[in-house]
This record gives sequence, C-alpha cells and structure tokens, in this order.
Amino acid sequence: MGAVGADDFVPDMQRRTIMNLVLLGGAGVPVLWLAGGYIYFLVPPGGGGGGAGVTARDALGADVMAAKWIAANPYPGRALVEGLKGDAHYLIVKEDKTLYDFAINAVCTHLGCVVPFNRAQLKYICPCHGSQYDFNGKVIRGPAPLSLALAHVNDVDGKVVLSPWTETDFRTDLAPWWK
Ligand code: FES
Repeated sequence: MGAVGADDFVPDMQRRTIMNLVLLGGAGVPVLWLAGGYIYFLVPPGGGGGGAGVTARDALGADVMAAKWIAANPYPGRALVEGLKGDAHYLIVKEDKTLYDFAINAVCTHLGCVVPFNRAQLKYICPCHGSQYDFNGKVIRGPAPLSLALAHVNDVDGKVVLSPWTETDFRTDLAPWWK
C-alpha cells in the first residue's frame, strides 16, 4: 500500500470548520452573556447614592421640597425621607426654620433596625435592643457599636438632595466608618 496523503485524514475539512464555528458560537454566546451579567453585577450604578447626590423622597416616593418639608415638620420633630442607597434618613429642622446641612441615617448600627427619634428625650432610641444615640446621632448607649451614619444635605432648586459624607465625623473626630 502506498503512503497515505495528508488530505486523506481530513476529507471534510470545510464541514469540520463549519461545525467548529457552530460549536464555538454555541458556547461563546452563553459565556459572553454570563460574563456580561457578572460585569453588570460588579460595576456600581452611576446613580442611587454611590458617589453622587440623590434627591430625598417622601413616603409616597415624591421629591422632598425643602420649604414644604420644613413647614410640615417643625422643630424639634424629625421625619424620615428615603435617601442614599435607599436608606431612611432624618432631615433635621432647626429652630430658625432651616434645615441642618447633614442628615442622619436611621439604620441602627447594631443589627439594622430603623431607629425612631424620641421627641421628649431629644435622642434616638432603638426599639430592638435599646441602643441610644444623642441629638446628632452619636451613640451613647450600646449594644450599637457605632454612631448613626451621616449624609450631606443640600437645597438644589428647592429640592432636598443628599450626598455622601466622606469627611471626618464631626461628632467623633474620626474618619467615617460608613465610607
Ligand atoms: Fe438597634 Fe439592636 S438593632 S439596638
């Protein structure tokens, strides 16, 4: 018998190439789809409180207008808005009927209950395990280990806008733990 030529080993080269492409395409589409999903999951959204400000929203989901809010929630009462990362935040109305330039995140630093403001005692008392925070949200009684987080408050065209607080915590002189 004579030597077998190279072409004898790949009689249907064109068909094989097409099948390889089909296989590659069949595997590649789901891989790309999964990879895209992971990338989408890992990259933080542009809005919603990561780095930029968000307009505070009331219980009905409407933008909070500063003047209206102040009139409806006079000193020393404090009411909640939805703020950065969807967390409940207290806007604080001063005696002179303006807003403090910081808001207090109402999520307890112990296990995450929303902490109500006790108007009679002028402090926040967590209903879950009794942690207490002073007028500015600084922890004064455990088991909560840390003070309530802060956010900046700005009036932008009459709307209340909250933005991340990245500076030193003025209540503790420490770097913000929530950064
Ligand atoms: Fe607030 Fe435990 S969750 S004290």
